[in-house]
Amino acid sequence: MRRLMIAGNWKMNTDLAAGTALAAGLGEAISGKELTVDVLVCPPFPYLQAVKQAVGNSGIVVGGQNCYFEESGAFTGEVSVGMLQDVGCDWVLLGHSERRHVLKECNGVINKKTKAAIAKGLGAVLCVGELLEEREAGNTEAVLDEQMEGGLEGVSAEQMEQVVIAYEPVWAIGTGKTASPEQAEQAHAHLRKWLASRYTQELADSIRILYGGSVKPSNALELLGQANVDGALVGGASLSVENFGPIIEAGLELSKS
Ligand code: 13P
Repeated sequence: MRRLMIAGNWKMNTDLAAGTALAAGLGEAISGKELTVDVLVCPPFPYLQAVKQAVGNSGIVVGGQNCYFEESGAFTGEVSVGMLQDVGCDWVLLGHSERRHVLKECNGVINKKTKAAIAKGLGAVLCVGELLEEREAGNTEAVLDEQMEGGLEGVSAEQMEQVVIAYEPVWAIGTGKTASPEQAEQAHAHLRKWLASRYTQELADSIRILYGGSVKPSNALELLGQANVDGALVGGASLSVENFGPIIEAGLELSKS
């Protein structure tokens, strides 16, 4: 069985005090429990080091929300893979829809970032997902295929061990409109089929595919219970212990069944 991952993407939220309090609170909420799922938090860059310290030895791991593909140099405003690792990150989110659509990142850049992360041993959570108009036009699968092909070009089967896929339908992000468990399962099954045809069935069966888009305590158990849903990438509801705690709990419960 694939180990579930419950990941929180804090986006451009919190401040130093709130971020460290949230991280410490999550650590307390899971303390004493057998951590049978991966728990990841991705705070804004300036708070990474403090958050890493605040999660202590709770088992929670920390990741960046983006990185650049060059190692160092004249790239004002960018953060390298090595810098993320230097402050204790194990993961980086790449290709998030806000980076694709607000910051205009294309598949080529996302691919370079993915390859740079895995070349240095940093885990990459590659996000894919369709816009509402793409879904309504019946293009969901074509869009997912294009983002998978573009993002994973030149990534070997061996390197895929460091990759997690996150399916985040853009129309469900921050809108309160969650994909139904059936819609999520259908997209995840398609992504797994893509992985099987690009690599092997065995590899496809081993890769985790997270669902993201208005995941909250009330829908987590049902979404995570789908056969091809291996975790959640949570935005808004990852910003409080009251909401993120029960989503982690849902994962823990399912991991035992
Ligand atoms: P929400 O959970 O706020 O919809 O955000 C999802 C997301 O974009 C996580 O990366």
